[in-house]
Amino acid sequence: MMPVDTCVSPPPSGRPLLKWAGGKRQLLPALRGYYPVTFNRYIEPFFGSGAVFFDLHASGRLAGRQAWLVDDNADLIGCYRMLTSRTDEVIKQLQALAAGHERGGSDFYYEVRDARFNPMRATAATYTPEMAAMLIYLNRTGFNGLFRLNKSGEFNVPAGRYVNPRIVDEQHLRQVAAALRSRGVTLTQGSFEGAVLEAGKGDFVYCDPPYAPLSRTACFANYTANGFRRNDQERLQQALAGAAKRGAHVVLSNSSAPEIEELYSRTNAQQALLRIERVDARRAINSRAESRGPVTELVITNVLKPRMLRAVDPDQLAAARTRKRQAQV
Ligand SMILES: C[S@@+](CC[C@H](N)C(=O)[O-])C[C@H]1O[C@@H](n2cnc3c(N)ncnc32)[C@H](O)[C@@H]1O
Repeated sequence: MMPVDTCVSPPPSGRPLLKWAGGKRQLLPALRGYYPVTFNRYIEPFFGSGAVFFDLHASGRLAGRQAWLVDDNADLIGCYRMLTSRTDEVIKQLQALAAGHERGGSDFYYEVRDARFNPMRATAATYTPEMAAMLIYLNRTGFNGLFRLNKSGEFNVPAGRYVNPRIVDEQHLRQVAAALRSRGVTLTQGSFEGAVLEAGKGDFVYCDPPYAPLSRTACFANYTANGFRRNDQERLQQALAGAAKRGAHVVLSNSSAPEIEELYSRTNAQQALLRIERVDARRAINSRAESRGPVTELVITNVLKPRMLRAVDPDQLAAARTRKRQAQV
């Protein structure tokens, strides 16, 4: 068994560890309106930097509940696992990297990326504290915090242009480690299907997949070697409609691409009582400053907002659902 660092848990910060393309920190004020009033397990199958998980954790809404966090990116999950189980070693390694960066700047970045991180990724059977520290270092100092692999599977993000990047925030690292180490939290590397298929009555499933591109040329991140294509969005739609029908509270964020509107206007989504709502978001990942303005994104959900819950008599709601199902048969 791996040694676990023992320390008194610091109070939660609510802030993710990593910068992550598509990270949802800026959308939290809108997303909070879709958190169900009460739920059983929390399931997040596209975890990334976990903005929603850390928000729920900090607000105490996960206390006494199970949380299942899944992502296909093996580096990401490897890094979180090392941070939770070998916190002190990761922090020590990161401090050494921060000192190296102070001396060598972007030369040091490329040395770490090309002479240490990529060769280790190619040969190591599992993640190590050193690799986890390097991933955090590259995330803090690389361009826009991107995680991008080339065709050979090598991490190829160029150095960012930060004057004084904050590489080690020890208290925050410990807060993140403590949140992920909380009782009931499980981290899994893998694709979304297993977790969504597992979601049952009363579970809260929040899905934030790679967004469907708004245009053919727009594709700002490939978090994994496989990418996320139209047929993946379709498989996700079917899995989410199934989860909603089983009684799970489903919340999905995605772009306002026509393919997403079309997918979630289909009969199976309507039968599952999934509705499409629009929220305003500011997309910070776009490298062209003029494209960073407010954009409309979609939230697809069956969660009734508190205002809707107040307005609806449960008996009337059940009767309306039955009428709707009968009309669709
Ligand atoms: C938009 S990001 C999630 C961002 C996250 N909500 C946050 O706040 O940082 C999408 C995530 O889905 C992951 N991913 C891509 N394909 C996947 C798949 N088939 N199954 C599970 N995760 C996948 C990526 O590695 C990436 O971390």
